[in-house]
Amino acid sequence: MNPQARVLLVVGSARPVRVGDQLAAQIKPILEAAGAEVTVADLAELGLPLLDEPMMAAASGGDYAHEHTRTWSGLVRDADAVVWLTPQYNGGYPASVKNAVDYLFPEWAGKPMLLVSYGAGGGGLGGAQLRSVLEFVKGDVVAPNVEISLPPQSSYGSDFRLVDAASDVERHRQELESAAQTLVAHVGAVQVAG
Ligand SMILES: Cc1cc2nc3c(=O)[nH]c(=O)nc-3n(C[C@H](O)[C@H](O)[C@H](O)COP(=O)(O)O)c2cc1C
Repeated sequence: MNPQARVLLVVGSARPVRVGDQLAAQIKPILEAAGAEVTVADLAELGLPLLDEPMMAAASGGDYAHEHTRTWSGLVRDADAVVWLTPQYNGGYPASVKNAVDYLFPEWAGKPMLLVSYGAGGGGLGGAQLRSVLEFVKGDVVAPNVEISLPPQSSYGSDFRLVDAASDVERHRQELESAAQTLVAHVGAVQVAG
């Protein structure tokens, strides 16, 4: 039997009042049911400053000056696969996510990945842009992006949090399950081949 797939679930939103954490809590068990051992990397908690490494990661080869970079690098290196959970901001994906990508470089090469975007209409523009960047750094995006739609009128409470995150994710359960299964199977195939 293959070892369990270690999956890093990245919460891309770093705002003090946000919904990414609520969605991550609902997506995590779907990944686990597909056979993943999930670690959550919440960019709000990681608190990476705007990129402050003196050398670009592509040139430093993973020899980083700062402890926060080594922590982030270690999380990615220790994972067999990465699931990016990203909101859409103004037709793109957030600066927090781009910043997190730009901190590293060799870590992304060949890393199996999955993208889950969200927004009023599913955040597809942000998801597509992030996919293009992750492919540029040679990430191995293994399934179509999943887009979670959050209609503003029905999804949010007066506190700007989701009223019922479980139902929001439930509407996309089939796509999420299918993508999670593809990701875990892909990791298994890589492990067998390696
Ligand atoms: C700066 C900003 C820009 C936004 N732009 C979009 C957008 O282009 N399309 C969309 O569907 N929602 C947009 N929204 C709404 C977000 O998708 C929604 O607030 C979502 O909850 C953001 O994720 P978060 O709460 O985890 O940060 C925007 C929100 C913010 C804060």
